[in-house]
Amino acid sequence: MQGKRILLGVTGGIAAYKSPDLVRRLRERGAEVQVVMSAGAREFVTATTFQAVSGRTVRADLWDAAAEAAMGHIELARWADAVLIAPASANFIARLASGQADDLIATLCLATQAPVAVAPAMNHVMWANAATRANIATISARGVQVFGPGEGDQACGETGTGRMLEPLDLADRVAALLPGVGALAGKRVLITAGPTREPIDPVRFVSNRSSGKMGFAVAQAAREAGATVVLVAGPVSVPTPAGVARIDVESAADMLAAVLRELPGTDVFISTAAVADYRPARCAQQKIKKTTETMDLSLERTTDVLATVAAHVERPFVVGFAAETESVENNARAKLMKKNLDMIAANEVGHAKAFDCEDNELLVLSRGARHELARAGKLTLARGLIELIAHDLAARNGARTRGTALA
Ligand code: CTP
Repeated sequence: MQGKRILLGVTGGIAAYKSPDLVRRLRERGAEVQVVMSAGAREFVTATTFQAVSGRTVRADLWDAAAEAAMGHIELARWADAVLIAPASANFIARLASGQADDLIATLCLATQAPVAVAPAMNHVMWANAATRANIATISARGVQVFGPGEGDQACGETGTGRMLEPLDLADRVAALLPGVGALAGKRVLITAGPTREPIDPVRFVSNRSSGKMGFAVAQAAREAGATVVLVAGPVSVPTPAGVARIDVESAADMLAAVLRELPGTDVFISTAAVADYRPARCAQQKIKKTTETMDLSLERTTDVLATVAAHVERPFVVGFAAETESVENNARAKLMKKNLDMIAANEVGHAKAFDCEDNELLVLSRGARHELARAGKLTLARGLIELIAHDLAARNGARTRGTALA
């Protein structure tokens, strides 16, 4: 985190007593930390404490003319490489969900383009309340990362879920939000994930059982490896990994359009999506009525997103996925060649395998190599896959550089 700039918002809650320690953990890792306190936070900890541990004057007020003159709130929002609100009270989360800009912390969250994370801390009944659940769902869907909360004894004497995560844990999670160093630092990775929905009429569609979990794990692993990650996702209910830009789509045609829009400048394309191969030839304008005993649905082929990218003039390093019920290796190798891919990750599906389960195994084939990634959680497999991609990409770029030198 050397030289990275973290904006730490502290809102009102007893867990604010742990936030000075969080500042120290972030600074130990080399980060610069600017603390911004809400009015509620000042009831629990003093600004002097934060000033002492952060080495910077604490900001608290949107209307502080002297502070604004030194660095205005918009400038401060742009200064940050990442924003963390810890603790984030139920009230603050509600204001964030409704997009308010009525104090400095809320305004900074609206004005920043940096990744934003919250570490909720509140009584367990408040955390479980439907209003809080809805607010958390809203901010998560907008890409705000929610760190915790943990379970255990609470300051109010009760036990349950609502404790702020420990400072060390939070510091690690903030580090993962930052565009950093790693095997894919400086690279742009475009990933598709999840199923697509192909409409039959305004209320029905054809789809499949993909959960999107593998693709989201690949996005997280690529981000951890330092890449800028864009994730084009079909309809799934998986939280967006920290620091990943997510574009939601429905149909195969929407996915293709989003991918082609995002393709310029992409170094690696990873196609994990279970894109529908066929769509209804016609989508009825009105809901189809059950007037006959049987019904035929005429289907037509969708465009292959992966093959389109592999044939594109701005072709990046292209990785496909293959879900097979038999002859995994032969079928996957045939796809690698037919779609002109650099790499393919294959797995066996069917019954309870692969779809919607937590672990999996992968056979990764490239033109010259074969790797087996043993059964493990999807994130572990995704990290293994990203390592193989980074290795092949570096080898290819090295070969290109040598070629240029020889020429
Ligand atoms: N894919 C795609 N666009 C499609 C169909 C598939 O991008 N319209 C991608 C998937 O994301 C995956 C790979 O292609 O990376 C899967 O290859 P595919 O040949 O489509 O697999 P299957 O659908 O299983 O094909 P088949 O039925 O021929 O085995």
